[in-house]
Amino acid sequence: MAKNKQKDILVTTALPYANGPIHLGHMLEHVQTDIFVRAKKLQGHNILYFCADDAHGAPIMIKAAECNEDPEKFTKKIQKEHIEDFMKFSIDYTNYHTTHSKENKDIVNNIYECLCKNNLVYTKEIEQFFDETESMFLADRYIIGTCPKCKAENQYGDACEKCGSTYPTESVINPKSILSSTTPILKKTDQVFFKLSKFKQILKNFINKASLQPSVKSKLNEWLKGELKDWNISRDKPYFGFEIPDQKDKYFYVWLDAPVGYIASTKNWADQNGVNYLDLWSKDSQYEIHHFIGKDIIYFHGLFWPAVLYYSDYKIPNRIHAHGFLSINSEKMSKSKGTFITAKNFSKNQNTDLLRYYFASKLNSKIEDIDLDFDDYVQKINSNLVGKLFNIGSRLEPFIRKNDYNISNKIDKDFYHEQLLKYDFIIQSYNANEYSKAINSILSIADDINSYINHKKPWTLDNLEAIEVSSTIINLYKDLCILINPVMPNLSNKALNQFNIEDPDFTILGKDLGDTKINNYVPILDRLDTININDLN
Ligand code: 2FM
Ligand code: ZN
Repeated sequence: MAKNKQKDILVTTALPYANGPIHLGHMLEHVQTDIFVRAKKLQGHNILYFCADDAHGAPIMIKAAECNEDPEKFTKKIQKEHIEDFMKFSIDYTNYHTTHSKENKDIVNNIYECLCKNNLVYTKEIEQFFDETESMFLADRYIIGTCPKCKAENQYGDACEKCGSTYPTESVINPKSILSSTTPILKKTDQVFFKLSKFKQILKNFINKASLQPSVKSKLNEWLKGELKDWNISRDKPYFGFEIPDQKDKYFYVWLDAPVGYIASTKNWADQNGVNYLDLWSKDSQYEIHHFIGKDIIYFHGLFWPAVLYYSDYKIPNRIHAHGFLSINSEKMSKSKGTFITAKNFSKNQNTDLLRYYFASKLNSKIEDIDLDFDDYVQKINSNLVGKLFNIGSRLEPFIRKNDYNISNKIDKDFYHEQLLKYDFIIQSYNANEYSKAINSILSIADDINSYINHKKPWTLDNLEAIEVSSTIINLYKDLCILINPVMPNLSNKALNQFNIEDPDFTILGKDLGDTKINNYVPILDRLDTININDLN
């Protein structure tokens, strides 16, 4: 394959909250990112991948208190578990850090200083709900009440799930604190605001310049057409986070320091590797910066984040990749319905490469929700991987064994070259987040190969002719195993062992193995039995 100009790329996945286990919903996003990263690496690009735990905020503070633990200790323990979970799914981060770190604190303070210098923050007195029993101001999600628009009961303090409207928390009817079930009072408090309203033009330019999916672009433009409200970036104590340097008992709101965690994770890695993190993140950095996120946090990444960065010395992202939500057997993930599956439980019971494959087979560049249907899952794995792709190796085994595992450079050039022409489309599909297209193309080559074997009937041929057919196919099979490597790195590597390829890359695609001896075939994958979702809980 021709080599393109090597690019420097920095990729991030949204930071999981450090208050609970990684579940398959998180995994969808991390797998999506990891496939992108691996595919770019195989193309020879320099790509770095950073993530971290999102350690701050009231929910984490409360969860730690429920577990009788100090939040710092609590989030450290969760971070360790998260890293273990991601490793089981072969997510290949350059670094996985935490937002509760010195690097993050320093960078947050530095960004805040830039905002202050540019007169972009101010303090204003507002009224907020206060829980007198718990002695704390309540985040919107800690209030439930009746929707002021449609009058549906038991709705959150900021949005109604029934009618879809969002509203100021103070307008909720019959508000109740989730923490103490008491009625909160409205209490005056000074808060620090970021002048987001000043950024309309700057954000318009960002939206025009950045690489965004059409639906993300139109959503952001729609928000920009409306009123851009200044953003409250502070929270009163008690809060688990960073104190605002020039304020008393005020903390940065978790959503201010969370995305800064992308930079902090980079710095943490850079400091240990003799790299200046600013070479990656400063305004004139050569790196392309990509964020992978869920559709629910487009506002934060498409408006707040570029605006916060604009007057600092840091680079604004080049591309945002947003994806939809995951449902399981057509249900929202829910503990009571048994559809809340943690990464840990899944990996105890199942081969994680196969879930990566299933996700890839459904992912495209649109923001579509994805259903993990376990019957479909088993059917796809058995028919496409066991019966089609990896079956190629086993079908050829008898002929190659007969020739003492020697293959030849005499191959059917026409058939071989006809297939090579399809590789570029597969690689471009990875680059465009169109993984389902990449998978379909790989499978369609596997179909062509299987038809070719059926047509040539090597079992009716003499040894020399059978070896020509087998060598033609083995060279293509080797390529298919490389092409699927970003999706299923472990199974791909296992298959590539047969050809002593330990460190594959896309430059060896289309390079035939020549006259050589290969290793014995080992079965790559067994058929899956029906999956009972209860075994994954
Ligand atoms: O929505 C969430 O799960 C957040 N923890 C994502 C943060 S992403 C980034 F901004 F840090
Ligand atoms: Zn409503």
